[in-house]
Amino acid sequence: MTKYIGVLTAGGDSPGLNAAIRGIGKAALSQNMQVIGFRDGFRGLMENRTVRLDGAALSGILTIGGTILGTSRDKPHRMPVGSKTMDMTDVLLENYRNHHLDALVCLGGGGTQKNAYRLVKRGFNVVTLPKTIDNDVAGTDVTFGFDTAMGIATEAIDRLHSTAHSHHRIIVVEVMGHNAGWLTLGAGIAGGADVILIPEIPYDVEKVAEAIRERNRRGTGFSIVAVAEGAMSLTYASELAAARVEADSGDKKSHRKKAKARIEELEREHVGHTLVLSNQLEELTGLESRVTILGHLQRGGAPSAADRLLATRLGTATTELIAREEYGVMVAARGEGWEALPLGDVVDKRKTVPLDHPWIESARQVRTSFGD
Ligand code: F6P
Repeated sequence: MTKYIGVLTAGGDSPGLNAAIRGIGKAALSQNMQVIGFRDGFRGLMENRTVRLDGAALSGILTIGGTILGTSRDKPHRMPVGSKTMDMTDVLLENYRNHHLDALVCLGGGGTQKNAYRLVKRGFNVVTLPKTIDNDVAGTDVTFGFDTAMGIATEAIDRLHSTAHSHHRIIVVEVMGHNAGWLTLGAGIAGGADVILIPEIPYDVEKVAEAIRERNRRGTGFSIVAVAEGAMSLTYASELAAARVEADSGDKKSHRKKAKARIEELEREHVGHTLVLSNQLEELTGLESRVTILGHLQRGGAPSAADRLLATRLGTATTELIAREEYGVMVAARGEGWEALPLGDVVDKRKTVPLDHPWIESARQVRTSFGD
């Protein structure tokens, strides 16, 4: 019997999404399944905005960045509707049923896995794919989008080297990655950054400055500091940790409330920390420092060959699972193959960089400073 599949992309866009949509769609069509896409993530499923993913729609999209379906960060259970925020899961379920869908495929990062799991609990047949430039989804070796973004950040660091060298400057380059250091670490090593600052290793600014001064003493007058958007100084990290403990387990309600307000204040202060770091380094080293924030550049443009391959592998695997009616799972990358992981084992976990990760060990061996 023909199976009907719905596909949506949610959360931040990521190179490789179209390659995955093509993989799902083409493999499904070859097994006589019918595929529709919902526009702009879970919002499109709620508003019933669809696009037919037939052969013509799937053709020519492998190399295109972004997502042909559009995306949004809307959550089914907390959807802004007019001036209100409402739980719209029932409406999503009605549309899912009206389309006679056998399965809904959700492509997204950690947040999307969580939202998809909520839908599983409400009776949807769901299969998910792990995409994000941050590479922080638990249970999968890697997410698609990561390789492309790491390549873009590496190229940026390469280019910053020549200008830093010419002007004998420090260049502090901020790399995305949310609260995980994968992108900064990978691009920092590949681009030969002299200092790499990641959220997993809180830094002491004095140690960063000393690493730069030491390079100067050895006759190298420039330094590249790759800093993750989520990187934290030791002081900031310990204040945040203390406020979190108090917010979770403070003995009085008023203390917990105050701690929550303090967390919000700290998070607001943290925006712009790369500029603060650059100014501190100028003061401590006496060298000129400049900041480059890579931002959304890292999410744009064509996916790398590795991401096209990964997205195609995981996308086609999705159809195999749907044919077997194996639902409530994420298709995780495992070596050259894949594995279907129950969504319950994926959600509420974040894959950060382990402190004994071989990339960290290698970076230390080539004298990269982590400011610790
Ligand atoms: O999760 C991907 C990501 O690019 C993060 O690295 C970054 O923190 C965030 O999304 C930015 O989100 P937005 O595109 O909503 O500004």
